[in-house]
Amino acid sequence: MERIEVEGGERLLGEVVIHGSKNAVLPIMAAAVLNKGMTVIHNCPVIADVEYMSDILRNIGCLVTRDGDTIAIDAYNIDNTEPKESLFTKLRASVLLMGALLGRCGEAVIPYPGGCKIGMRPIDLHILALKTLGADVKELDYGISARRIKLSGNVITFSKRSVGATQNAVLAAVYAEGTTIIKNAATEPEVTSLLKCLNGMGAKINGIGTDTVKITGVKSLHDVVYEVESDRIVAGTYVFAAAITGGNVALRKAPFDRMRSTVYRALQLGCGVRQYKDTLVIEGSTRIKPIDYVRTRTYPGFPTDMQSQLMSVLALADGKSVIREEIFENRFTAVKELVSMGADIRIENNTAEVTGVTALKGTTVTASDLRQGAALVIAGLAADGKTIILNSAYINRGYVDICKDLKGLGAKIRWLKADE
Ligand code: EPZ
Repeated sequence: MERIEVEGGERLLGEVVIHGSKNAVLPIMAAAVLNKGMTVIHNCPVIADVEYMSDILRNIGCLVTRDGDTIAIDAYNIDNTEPKESLFTKLRASVLLMGALLGRCGEAVIPYPGGCKIGMRPIDLHILALKTLGADVKELDYGISARRIKLSGNVITFSKRSVGATQNAVLAAVYAEGTTIIKNAATEPEVTSLLKCLNGMGAKINGIGTDTVKITGVKSLHDVVYEVESDRIVAGTYVFAAAITGGNVALRKAPFDRMRSTVYRALQLGCGVRQYKDTLVIEGSTRIKPIDYVRTRTYPGFPTDMQSQLMSVLALADGKSVIREEIFENRFTAVKELVSMGADIRIENNTAEVTGVTALKGTTVTASDLRQGAALVIAGLAADGKTIILNSAYINRGYVDICKDLKGLGAKIRWLKADE
């Protein structure tokens, strides 16, 4: 089985460059379907989820090529509106092809994207949006069909903030007749970058970055070359890796303006933070301070995608902390493994009480999702002895090469293939 081995105890020192954002590039790849031409995306991370999305685009008729960190998508000829189930269900973001295919071709038949370890992950809000634009949506036994030759602009009001539902609604509304208003839209940076890219393709979208987005339907889009932003969750992961090891790390290309809530938590932990142009310098302290109360929230609040990584650091804090998970119903997936390393964590409903211990001990743990896996790596960096993280393939869905990055900062860490 693929696994990561890490010997704890090394302070991280040095510089690491933050790569492009997984959650920004995936919706832009879906948006390429709307353009009967070329979409070129720079700073595109070489990670499993991007390869999975490329395979789905090829399956519906796109030509997708990669040259280093640049992906080129030629969507001139879309000849399939029913993506292959075995490809589609490999990642959650494939659900965005429902809005893109409906907008481009007037129909989409997609398998249920399925839930995962962190929650049921329903798509009721996605379906609500498409129905509000006039699509005829049917829930079949193996998936969902959505049809409407020409969608009609309308007012979509979301009962809760949803990144994916907002993105799907915008993708479907780009070509809809008239004007669409989305109320209670998600404002995550990965929504903003999609809307900016769509406007770069000739869409007419206003209210970018706010919770009320207005889309005026257009007849066609044109080619675009777009540079994807740095990954704020990867950068935040390395902030907490520096914090737990008491290290001194410079994060080159860190998106400081889009990770303020994470930086604020690092300051609460006792870290020093300095910013030079596009570099964020994190100085961990020898004593990790507890955080009385932190809850995950929609942007610009503390991201749910950073919750497990913070929990690993708080497991070694000098006191008690409370973390409340308010976005997903089952996202304390790191707790069991951290407790097996000696952490003192109690869960009640969606609140975790973390009482810092003086040391974690290295042992064999198992990754069950992307960010929980990253959190176990962080814990291993500070644990006594060796930690082995099984199922580490989850981690390279969102990190280009976490071992190479951390080894470059002095960590004693290596990736082992299944046959090693
Ligand atoms: C995106 O998922 C991200 N994924 C997630 O990152 C991230 O955790 C999440 O946004 C929240 O920020 C990608 O961008 C590919 P949501 P998404 O719709 O769009 C509920 C990672 O590790 N909901 O904002 O699926 C849902 O169950 C991943 O990179 C409905 O109830 O998240 C959740 O409780 C993990 N009905 C909440 O809304 C719906 O129709 C927020 O989900 C849709 C969502």
